[in-house]
Amino acid sequence: MTPKTRDSVVFSLNGQITHVTGDDSFMTLAEWLRKRALLTGTKIVCAEGDCGACTVVRAFEPRGSKKKPIFEAMNSCITSVLQMDGSHLVTVEGLKVDEELAPAQSAMRICHGSQCGFCTPGFVMAITGALELLPKLDRKTAANYMTGNLCRCTGYSPILDAAESVVSSPKHNLGSRYLTPATIKKLRELTNSTLEIHGSSGPEGHHGKVFYAPQKLADACKASAKHKNSRLIAAATDVGVQANKGKALAPYTISLQNIPELYTITSSSTSVMVGARVNLTQLRTAMTKPMPEFARFLDIFASPQIKNVATLIGNLANASPIGDTLPFLLATDAVVHTARHAQGKFSRRKIKIEDFFVAYKKLALKAGEIITAVEIPTGKYAHNLRLYKVSQRKDLDISAVSAALNIDVNKSGKISLASLAFGGVAATPVRLGKVEQYLLGKTPSTPVFDTASAMIDSLLQPLSDARGTDTYRRVLVTNIFQKYVHNTFGDRS
Ligand SMILES: Cc1cc2nc3c(=O)[nH]c(=O)nc-3n(C[C@H](O)[C@H](O)[C@H](O)COP(=O)(O)OP(=O)(O)OC[C@H]3O[C@@H](n4cnc5c(N)ncnc54)[C@H](O)[C@@H]3O)c2cc1C
Ligand code: FES
Ligand code: FES
Repeated sequence: MTPKTRDSVVFSLNGQITHVTGDDSFMTLAEWLRKRALLTGTKIVCAEGDCGACTVVRAFEPRGSKKKPIFEAMNSCITSVLQMDGSHLVTVEGLKVDEELAPAQSAMRICHGSQCGFCTPGFVMAITGALELLPKLDRKTAANYMTGNLCRCTGYSPILDAAESVVSSPKHNLGSRYLTPATIKKLRELTNSTLEIHGSSGPEGHHGKVFYAPQKLADACKASAKHKNSRLIAAATDVGVQANKGKALAPYTISLQNIPELYTITSSSTSVMVGARVNLTQLRTAMTKPMPEFARFLDIFASPQIKNVATLIGNLANASPIGDTLPFLLATDAVVHTARHAQGKFSRRKIKIEDFFVAYKKLALKAGEIITAVEIPTGKYAHNLRLYKVSQRKDLDISAVSAALNIDVNKSGKISLASLAFGGVAATPVRLGKVEQYLLGKTPSTPVFDTASAMIDSLLQPLSDARGTDTYRRVLVTNIFQKYVHNTFGDRS
């Protein structure tokens, strides 16, 4: 019989079922691969998820899912071994078959895509991840799949040449080689219990001293209520970077990774419900039809390696005023669904997004409360919605200002819907209700929009920081608003 709680992380590594326990499981995956598994093909450069040198591919489907897992690229430097429980992992060492290089490796060699070679395994793994989904890559697609990889030597052209010349080969397909029914079944059996690992009393590990990953939401809520100084994690792309810098460590980590219900995403004609463990790649797919603008916007959110694991709920709960999805959630009147355990009882509630951001990094969550899902209304919000992100670099950069704007007119030509939300302009992301009220019922015209623009400027209190001065941010906000008006309504006088 399967034990109720186990103290070892179990995953498949290049086809071998692997058990890791104790302090080793608290290591970052990249460190563990290099120092314990002695698979040194995986490199560590930035340790912040920015350069892609540590890219591996991982396949994971939660218990109960009918889907076959798919291999996707991810960064191994900001994730812990603990988070790999139940996963199928392949590193660069697992690519070649019978001493024959995989297509991405051969192409890099032939196209001279490698000079010092330090970035090469990461690029190879990023291309390999893309080839698990697509038979061939055009240059643009290849470039998109490699936004999370940096190279200081080649100037990128030979790497893009390599990616463009690659054709997937059935012999090297990782899904067929490593995701055999037998391995999937075995791994599911071995991980069908709550994971609870205690680290030693040495220096704090990547996720504190205790890591707890229950299979039931109620158990996560109980633990969250009981351990006042615990830290909740979804994919830990925010938390992992902090942990690598020795910051924000909590002695007790509760991970939602083994709770199947949090992986669901459901759509109706009026909304999309996004579970707390749905990643941004899955979200992009689900939003392509009901909200194509949001799907497009997710293309400039982080890298594929980050989006293949990071969650919408993590972005929301991180509560950064420059979290990219927050203006969108504000502008569409999203609803936050939560659960908690208090006074011996499990309960759920819904919180309107407009009531959710209380102060800088402070949310309307009670002690121990866990976000279970976010409900995004679609329908009426999809029509004129436009999303903006201004950052110093187009790819993989933090926003100076972000915005979600949506103004619609009725059949009589009057403004019938106005949603204006901005990030990076105050201590929390903000929705500008006063300006919206001013616009409602008016006929779109240059004077009306100029007045609205002046109101927006007067209501915002941007800060100056490394990403821009308050003056720069004010100019950005006004320009974004005017650009939106111009693109949506044309020139009006
Ligand atoms: C290289 C890199 C690029 C990035 N690019 C972007 C970008 O372009 N735009 C952007 O906005 N962000 C970006 N981020 C930040 C980060 O990836 C996102 O905020 C992501 O959505 C966080 O999701 P996560 O699942 O990893 O959250 P986690 O790190 O697991 O958690 C984040 C916070 O939410 C809390 N939390 C998680 N789940 C819950 C829950 N269910 N209930 C209550 N609290 C919870 C955690 O305790 C933590 O405080 C980037 C990060 C990296 C490393
Ligand atoms: S080492 Fe740079 S992304 Fe991991
Ligand atoms: S080949 Fe040297 S960093 Fe890319």
